[in-house]
Amino acid sequence: MQDRLTDLAIGNVLSNAINIGNRLNFFKVIAEISNAECPVLPEKIAEKAGCKERYVREWCNTLACGRILEVNEKEEFWIANENLEALTTENFPLMFNSMLSTVLKPIDTLIECFKKEGPYGLDYSAYSDFEEMQQKFTKIVHEKHIIPDLVPAIGNGIKEKLEAGGIRVLDVGCGGGFHSGLLAEHYPKSQFVGLDITEKAIKAARLKKKSDGTDFENLEFVVADAAIMPSSWTDSFDLVILFGSCHDQMRPDLCLLEVHRVVKPDGLVAVTDVDGSSNVFTDRETYGKMAAMKYGGSMLHCLPVGSNRPDALCCGSMWGRKRAVEIMNKCGFDNIDIIPTDYFPGTVLYLMKK
Ligand SMILES: C[S@@+](CC[C@H](N)C(=O)[O-])C[C@H]1O[C@@H](n2cnc3c(N)ncnc32)[C@H](O)[C@@H]1O
Repeated sequence: MQDRLTDLAIGNVLSNAINIGNRLNFFKVIAEISNAECPVLPEKIAEKAGCKERYVREWCNTLACGRILEVNEKEEFWIANENLEALTTENFPLMFNSMLSTVLKPIDTLIECFKKEGPYGLDYSAYSDFEEMQQKFTKIVHEKHIIPDLVPAIGNGIKEKLEAGGIRVLDVGCGGGFHSGLLAEHYPKSQFVGLDITEKAIKAARLKKKSDGTDFENLEFVVADAAIMPSSWTDSFDLVILFGSCHDQMRPDLCLLEVHRVVKPDGLVAVTDVDGSSNVFTDRETYGKMAAMKYGGSMLHCLPVGSNRPDALCCGSMWGRKRAVEIMNKCGFDNIDIIPTDYFPGTVLYLMKK
């Protein structure tokens, strides 16, 4: 176990160093100015990245010792060809390393939350750059798949209805509005509303423009608690979507009751959420080493934000199918289809009808 603990600590240091390099653009700079035939000294990397040579040198030394960068006897560095794509393009594993520093921001308060007399949980604001991180993550993972994969998976003629226009869609827990923006641009004849409790997220969402730089005419954003939606919304949406925003809520049940109220009779509700079985033993078998990442992400972020008041359900992102379906059933959704969404790793789609 001691060797394993040492390896974990080394992995932790390297992960943080990767985050630093990613945020300061070092990998792209190294890829641009060097290769195996033409390695560079840290001063060149520092100059091009607008950083201090001494810090960049220690960063290069760390990553070379961790076998992430290559180094020669003259202490010159480069990225091996086979590692270029992983280190210089936006991808899931690279993103994981960058997410950690965001979810670890409130670590001292989180430790207090574990204690009997400590706080119930944490507010989103404790994770100061959460919204930015979430938007980046969502874009990398979802952009390619919402229109060609997720919309057809919802089925029930929704693609045709969205295209024909005149239908209303609500995006609950929309964050910075990535999904509603994408859908609103793709289906200009339908109407989209994004709702989120976080003012900062909605402020960012309201700045969204179409890809040609013009304003949306079919998209609006509302700051509200999903557990208390406007009373005028009863039976008014054809489709309600929740992208990864159910388990994070302190009272997902109250939100789902509201969703049931605001969706039209025969309307659809599509919830994408982290997949799990509601049993850690099974999840460990199913997800292998990624199970620790899934439960760890929940422990560091989803559980504390979903536990922050005395009546919270404290779901965490690994609430899993059994618990999710139980709550959905209690909120009036009887027939729930669980549809695999392999294009969103580790996620599943719950599809319900009112
Ligand atoms: C994991 S983020 C997902 C954001 C977005 N759907 C995406 O996929 O990028 C969860 C979102 O749910 C929002 N949220 C949490 N509790 C909420 C509540 N009670 N009412 C409305 N939004 C809530 C958070 O502010 C956050 O933006």
